[in-house]
Amino acid sequence: MKGSFPLESFSQLETPFYYYDTAILRETLAAITTHVRETRNYKVHYAIKANANPKLLRIISAYGLGADCVSGGEIQTALDAGFPSDSIVFAGVGKTDKEILLGLRNGISCFNVESIPELEVINELAMQLSTTARVAFRINPDVGAHTHANITTGLAENKFGIAMEDMDKVIDLVSRLTHVRFIGLHFHIGSQILDMADFVSLCNRINELQEHLSRRQIVVGNINVGGGLGVDYQHPDRKPIPDLSSYFSVFRNHLKLHAHQTLHFELGRAVVAQCGSLISRVTFVKQGAIKQFAILDAGFSDLIRPALYQAYHKIENISSEEAKQTYDVVGPICESSDVFQKASELNKAHRGDFIAIRSAGAYGEAMASCYNCRQLPASYLSDEIHV
Ligand code: LLP
Repeated sequence: MKGSFPLESFSQLETPFYYYDTAILRETLAAITTHVRETRNYKVHYAIKANANPKLLRIISAYGLGADCVSGGEIQTALDAGFPSDSIVFAGVGKTDKEILLGLRNGISCFNVESIPELEVINELAMQLSTTARVAFRINPDVGAHTHANITTGLAENKFGIAMEDMDKVIDLVSRLTHVRFIGLHFHIGSQILDMADFVSLCNRINELQEHLSRRQIVVGNINVGGGLGVDYQHPDRKPIPDLSSYFSVFRNHLKLHAHQTLHFELGRAVVAQCGSLISRVTFVKQGAIKQFAILDAGFSDLIRPALYQAYHKIENISSEEAKQTYDVVGPICESSDVFQKASELNKAHRGDFIAIRSAGAYGEAMASCYNCRQLPASYLSDEIHV
């Protein structure tokens, strides 16, 4: 056992694979449920997109979280993992008829509607099924988040949500439609947000919109502030549980909820990022003309975040105690972007050493592909691995 990795057990497994430390996951979930219990009108939905591994989902659903889904496939996966249908919310700019029907037939708790045409289609399909769909409007709050440009979503230029200035129009429309019931407002400003001031800005914007609605005598039951809480990729061991206290207290202190309103959250990354590592072996150590490469058997088909977002993940050689050397840590895929980290300081690497790419529980396995006809990575929970 080195650190928290059961190396002896790893030696019997084919790499690459995702390894999930369920103690960290459970601790994170326990911390979330403690906060939610303190404030009875809070409900946290786990954003399935971050990691839809059925074994993890079973653990997460057992803690009483709801599910935030963005496709029919995610709705089905959530139901299969035991999330109650009335805890499922469904977002996405391009919900197909088939996906809407799946949601309606299962009586999900809320469709987070992102456009007028979508609202009309949901109404029509609900009419066909002689049911009523509960809908929230995803409002684009035009609030920027200090995070990677590819993962900010709440700016006016982004494709997401209904523009603030169209909110009245859509509320007028919904009152004329017979098979949709307007129950809430939904927001999401981006992901990997560590600056709590961004969430304060969101609260301020929601307060303004709620005041505007109050003037029209409209009070909705649900306010959904989306997800976005970030994690410490630099120091996965220093603070494996995200700063939930600061996060929840922003909403407690800055958001003016009306009596009987429920506040919904859709956390993905903060729930699962730190419990997961991508474990691979060094296939070759190669001396290039000007640098040294550690070539892994994992590539961007297994973890695409560094290639796609230039995301940083801490990388460790968990087999070696030797003095550190500098490597470009790369995968075997036939593209120059298949690089996990340039100039990475690793304990001296040898063919066959185990390399852990940390904080990979969120948007790792879920974004894996079969590019280059590679197999999808396997996954193991710490509970399943016996030394
Ligand atoms: N709610 C909505 C409407 C979302 O679009 C997202 C994430 C979440 C909740 C969950 O956000 P979280 O709590 O995980 O930040 N693949 C990217 C992240 C994309 C996030 C997409 N939306 C990455 O690897 O960084």
